[in-house]
Amino acid sequence: MGEFLRVDGLRMEFGGLVAVKDVSFIVGEGEFVGLIGPNGCGKSTTFNCISGLLNQTAGKIEMFGEDVSELRPDQIQNLGMTRTFQHTRLWRRMTVVENLMVPPRKQFSPSLIKSLLKPRSRSAERKRLEEAYTILDQLEVPHMAHNLTSELSGGQSKLVDIGRSMMGDPRLLLLDEPVAGVAGPLAMKIFNNLRRIVDETGISVLIIEHNMDFILRQGVDRIIVMNEGGVLMQGTPDEVRANREVIEAYLGSSEKNEAEEE
Ligand SMILES: Nc1ncnc2c1ncn2[C@@H]1O[C@H](COP(=O)(O)OP(=O)(O)O)[C@@H](O)[C@H]1O
Ligand SMILES: [Mg+2]
Repeated sequence: MGEFLRVDGLRMEFGGLVAVKDVSFIVGEGEFVGLIGPNGCGKSTTFNCISGLLNQTAGKIEMFGEDVSELRPDQIQNLGMTRTFQHTRLWRRMTVVENLMVPPRKQFSPSLIKSLLKPRSRSAERKRLEEAYTILDQLEVPHMAHNLTSELSGGQSKLVDIGRSMMGDPRLLLLDEPVAGVAGPLAMKIFNNLRRIVDETGISVLIIEHNMDFILRQGVDRIIVMNEGGVLMQGTPDEVRANREVIEAYLGSSEKNEAEEE
């Protein structure tokens, strides 16, 4: 199994605040991995460092065997990594399929507007359209293709955002709380579909989720548990379940607080 992502000794400081301290983990090729931990423990910051939006204070990040620690977000994305953000931002006046058509590889590039305005060839356009419909099929929402995204529920918007991140054949998807605030059945469907997509295509998915109880039952291969900027433990769902320290740290206190926040 190849290595798609290696995070080694990652540290991120904001002024005096240490948001991430010494985080190390690997995501293998074709792996479906959960990244969990209470609010404020550094999950999104870790994603921001991996995707090049933040320059880490220390540590090294390798993607597909290449050192990407100093690369710009668009360069990293061009290697085949896409991500979603905790707060979904769709083009509200466009349909679902149109949202998928916005060039994802350029999502961080300063030339986004240019690439949107640049006329693309008919055949390239048709290929992207086919890809968009295929992805909506994979996510089991082909019927939503022509809805305006402003008409969608929060959960459906999250699905469209995931679909958008799948455009352009990425090999590694980083999804930041894609099911937060999504109703249980749809949340489970999203995880089931991601599991199937990982198995069928061999891509890797690293998914942030803050509900420990939930992710333990969603068929991920491994779970990385963060707490206060560090990695508390990582292992299979069975191993995490068996770790009392983790259960106490999460199911005991923070889990309840977060449930109340939503
Ligand atoms: N751009 C930033 N500037 C200053 N502090 C930040 C910034 N981004 C995140 N933080 C802080 O870093 C810590 C970790 O945040 P974050 O990574 O968003 O946590 P999580 O995603 O696990 O909820 C928090 O204390 C947060 O307030
Ligand atoms: Mg976050």
